[in-house]
Amino acid sequence: MEVVICPDPAAVAQAAAAEVVRVAREVGPSVVLGVATGSSPLGLYRVLADLVDGGGLDLSDACAFALDEYVGLPQGHPESYAEVVRRTVTEPLHLSPARVHVPNGFAEDVAAAGEAYETAILAAGGIDIQILGIGTNGHIGFNEPGSSLASRTRTETLTQRTRQDNARFFASLDEVPTRALTQGLGTILDARHALLIAQGEGKAEAVAAMVEGPLSAAVPGSVLQAHAHATVVVDEAAASGLRRTGYRRWADLNRPDWQAVGITR
Ligand code: F6R
Repeated sequence: MEVVICPDPAAVAQAAAAEVVRVAREVGPSVVLGVATGSSPLGLYRVLADLVDGGGLDLSDACAFALDEYVGLPQGHPESYAEVVRRTVTEPLHLSPARVHVPNGFAEDVAAAGEAYETAILAAGGIDIQILGIGTNGHIGFNEPGSSLASRTRTETLTQRTRQDNARFFASLDEVPTRALTQGLGTILDARHALLIAQGEGKAEAVAAMVEGPLSAAVPGSVLQAHAHATVVVDEAAASGLRRTGYRRWADLNRPDWQAVGITR
């Protein structure tokens, strides 16, 4: 697991965008992106959108798969992830809507929708780079603590902590759904690159447990320790719980050019 510590959220967005661009250029026009919702990747999406608008990046033939969707919201709800992905990813990055997929949390048979999602990811050739955030309780996607490390796309009951964290997007806590349809930890591990972004002190404990704690279902993000190409990009505040930052910074300074992550150094 590679950990890149950036001075601030703007540098996190730049470094994470550089990693997405590197993979997109390596793979070619039909790159398959895995996209997270929530606040963490918004700066990254804005940097990518600027690159697209400036002609430096063309994602018009790219494909995207969202990590998750709430179960229980009416279709078209502004906070449904289908809508959030449309507003924050599909439109600004000029992706073709037909190639942007979100798990169908509105389906009558959500279990079947989960299986269909796995099939669609496979049919697209798998995810080249999966963008991730981390919950304050260590979740990735909506894989809450205790999720099987081998889990596939399925429904999950949200913890109260996650519902409280996400209540800022809704008028009240009662409106936050109790369930979601999420890529599993096994699904996320299958992505060829994993890129996790975290900013702010509120994420420090989760980041430390994910990076330096034991690999455990109790901290779902720690499954990335078993991923061959996982990059964690954090700002100083989100890195503040890490113990081995001296080594991380040393490794970052001594990274050979061919292994460069980020564009700020
Ligand atoms: C979003 C997702 C979640 C979030 C996490 C962090 O699709 O799967 O795991 O990445 O809850 O959310 P933010 O970035 O809002 O702090």
